[in-house]
Amino acid sequence: MRPPIPHAITSFVAATLLSVSVPVSAAENTRFERGSEVYNQQCAACHQAQGQGIPGSFPPQKNHTAQMYNATDGIGGRRYLGHVLQYGLTGPIKVDGTSYNGNMPAWGGALTSQQMADVLNYVLTAFGNEKRIAGEFQPYTPEDIEAIAGKDLSGKDVYQLRQTLLGQSPEQSRTKATPVRSAPELSLEKSIRDPLYVAVQNSGIVKVLPSKQAWPGVAGAHYNALSPDGSRLMVSGFKTGNVYVLNTASGEVMASVPVGEVAQGVKISPDGRYGLAVAPTQGDVAVIDMNTLELVRKIPVGKVPHNLVYSADGTLAYVTLQGEGALAVVDMRALEKQRQIPTPGLKTPHNIDISANGQRLWLRDFTGNVGVLDLASETMLKTFEVGSGHGGIDVVPGEQYVATGAISASVVTIIDSESLKIVKNVDVGVGPHGVRASRDGQFIYASVTADNHIAVIDTQSLEVVRREPVGGQFPFWLAVPGNP
Ligand code: HEC
Repeated sequence: MRPPIPHAITSFVAATLLSVSVPVSAAENTRFERGSEVYNQQCAACHQAQGQGIPGSFPPQKNHTAQMYNATDGIGGRRYLGHVLQYGLTGPIKVDGTSYNGNMPAWGGALTSQQMADVLNYVLTAFGNEKRIAGEFQPYTPEDIEAIAGKDLSGKDVYQLRQTLLGQSPEQSRTKATPVRSAPELSLEKSIRDPLYVAVQNSGIVKVLPSKQAWPGVAGAHYNALSPDGSRLMVSGFKTGNVYVLNTASGEVMASVPVGEVAQGVKISPDGRYGLAVAPTQGDVAVIDMNTLELVRKIPVGKVPHNLVYSADGTLAYVTLQGEGALAVVDMRALEKQRQIPTPGLKTPHNIDISANGQRLWLRDFTGNVGVLDLASETMLKTFEVGSGHGGIDVVPGEQYVATGAISASVVTIIDSESLKIVKNVDVGVGPHGVRASRDGQFIYASVTADNHIAVIDTQSLEVVRREPVGGQFPFWLAVPGNP
């Protein structure tokens, strides 16, 4: 560890106190503000705005993170926290007597080293942590974060580090994903018949199954979507803020279009004309002409938009506004925001799908709930508690089921779309996020972010019939032909 630089530290800490008596430099103030911005955008939905967490689901940052920082066994608390940010954390932990057994997503491919350093510096100098740091706090630099990057570690490995840090003997995580199956798995060719395109975020590739091709050139591959004819694949680069368009015949990147600081949900319109891409930090939806592959315009839609779905006739797009508890309705002819629909009971609508008859929207929030909204009356028919954290949602073709993932848990929840009841929580491995069914509705595919595989659920038995490794880190989302 480098020796701390006293002046910088004193003023840095001072910058974080409410009553600032020592003048602080603009740079230090900015650093604190930058960290607070990252925290509010990326962490607060789970750990809460004041760092208090949600008992049993998300551990507190308040008064707690400094204790972890102070730990001296194993690799030491300071380096441990850097690992948690880079690689996530998966395993049963106890904080202030309350048990958690979740999955903290890895941020390595999603945030820059600067952002990871900023957010750690923020958490450790806010929420009461500033009073609990043993000795002087030494702010993280981007170089500190880079020094621990690029290792092949999972959230389970970081969990082992946590055990040694606290002087507990390393033990096997009880969340171990893959139960021993007695029945043989279904073959790859039988379980994935159409091409399945997986955006593997931290490896910056699109993995194609069953052919097992890996297409490079898509840094931060986050969300993806197919054109109606299946010839184009649109991929958002979370970290780069670019949207890539790929030719699915060759895997070649045909265009890379900058849409904002960050790029998230993407969808191609049912007539194939426009690709929409969400830029959450700017509050925009970018419109890309799918013929010229150029940016047509940016439509301001509201706070923290995330993903979208088109109406059955393609004339409207419904965009989730995670920062507003509402949906923005975009007129696809005028390419303008028309109005907003509130989503009562769902504060952070995240992902979205629509029933085949176009009458119901299925919404998945950021913290473990699903809502079903009737479009004619614009009322929420029901909300469900599902697995914790955020995830994708899919109305399975054939309409019997709706399936949703849960990045902070290990289950895909299957809901009966008629009775609006939960049918089953299927254990698929740690951190399922992307969920899409095959076009015939026979299989549901889930991208399991911490275990780096695709789980295939048979919709007859509602059992996992195959787990297919993706050969990369953090498979976030997937696209299948015939089920946009
Ligand atoms: C989707 C929900 C979610 C988000 C978003 C999230 N976390 Fe976490 N975080 C968790 C869960 C769940 C755990 C506990 C994991 C476990 O039980 O093993 C955790 C654990 C942690 C820990 C480790 C605490 C310990 O005792 O070892 C730190 C530090 C942390 N998170 C910081 C952050 C920061 C900083 C961000 C934003 C960049 C963030 N988290 C975003 C869910 C989340």
